[in-house]
Amino acid sequence: MAEAADAAPNQADGPEAPWSYRNILALAPMVRVNTLPFRLLAREYGANIVYSEELVDRSVVQCRRSENAALGTIDFRHESGKLIFSTVPHERVAFQLGTASAGDALRAAQVVCADVRAIDINMGCPVKFSVQGGMGAALLSKPERVKDILGTLVRNLPGVPVTCKIRLLDSAHDTLQLARAIQETGVAALAVHGRRRNDRPRWWAQWDQVALLRQQLGSELPLLPNGDIFLPEHVRGAREATGCDSLMLARGAMWNASLFGAPEAELRPQREVVARYVALCRRYDTYLGSGLRLGLGSADPNPSPNPNPNQVRRLLWQCQVRDHEHARGARQDRDLQAGAEGHRPGRARARRRRDAGRPGLRPAVPRADGARARARPAARGG
Ligand SMILES: Cc1cc2nc3c(=O)[nH]c(=O)nc-3n(C[C@H](O)[C@H](O)[C@H](O)COP(=O)(O)O)c2cc1C
Repeated sequence: MAEAADAAPNQADGPEAPWSYRNILALAPMVRVNTLPFRLLAREYGANIVYSEELVDRSVVQCRRSENAALGTIDFRHESGKLIFSTVPHERVAFQLGTASAGDALRAAQVVCADVRAIDINMGCPVKFSVQGGMGAALLSKPERVKDILGTLVRNLPGVPVTCKIRLLDSAHDTLQLARAIQETGVAALAVHGRRRNDRPRWWAQWDQVALLRQQLGSELPLLPNGDIFLPEHVRGAREATGCDSLMLARGAMWNASLFGAPEAELRPQREVVARYVALCRRYDTYLGSGLRLGLGSADPNPSPNPNPNQVRRLLWQCQVRDHEHARGARQDRDLQAGAEGHRPGRARARRRRDAGRPGLRPAVPRADGARARARPAARGG
């Protein structure tokens, strides 16, 4: 998998390369993580489509397109010169927009649609900035607005798949109603984060609710269940549990992008994955810190476009430690003791009861005493 640092990666495909939203693994949108190198990394390890981070419509409409001949990229820069989004020709990227209005969404989509494979609308982000602006999860309770936004995009962007990403609503009935309204607009796929708007990231994603939605909605519209897929066995388990053949992965991919090789392939050592990521950052002159969460701690406060050898050595050393910990289950044990379950014994018991019959979502490394233990990296965003 690892290639020479400056090699042009073979992750992009020709415009005619056939693909669909059926039977795929998608890299979920992640703010400040899904930079071009990280998306290319996911593609190299097998992601069928990669989402951009969410970008807000009014920021996108101010962007100018330019081609960077030195790097081979297509860049979208703000009037201020700030790079907002970068891609390579034929990258299989779905561009995610944050929007509250059909007109703004369309104007923003028109800026980028010739250079991306799909336009996605974020309807799940619960953070204050989004919701106060009528974006993200605020749209979950506005089906008419949702229909207006998606319908406008579908009608005006022929040949460009339009999709959206939602969360579960408070009742299965409400989720179904919203999904039906979305389906009627003619979208190409619907990603469903299996948590409700106010659920904490550390609570289990509700696969049973996604399965119910799948049953009630029928199989015409491809669904991409999202949430809590961290290990190769979770890929098979989530497919079985939800009845959906396509899945969307966020934190699991951030920890180890080789998860996209699942369920056929084992995870690659994290240091190997990070080494490749570093090479791609060099190749595309991208801040190492901006995309590098990968379970290695917070982003570098002083990122440099070309990571210095010490910085890289430090990251790789951290990866070695993490691989080692993973192998013996120490990290999971520590998370269990120090993390959510330790502080919420009642909830942990309920969760264990609820998960007892769920196929696939089993601990990464079973502990000697048989207790559940699993990496639970922090989540944010939609
Ligand atoms: C760092 C980070 C950034 C995120 N940014 C976005 C975003 O821009 N748009 C979005 O729809 N969801 C965003 N999310 C939510 C994820 O796409 C996903 O729905 C959530 O993490 C649950 O999936 P997981 O359990 O596989 O992590 C973000 C999550 C994380 C961890």
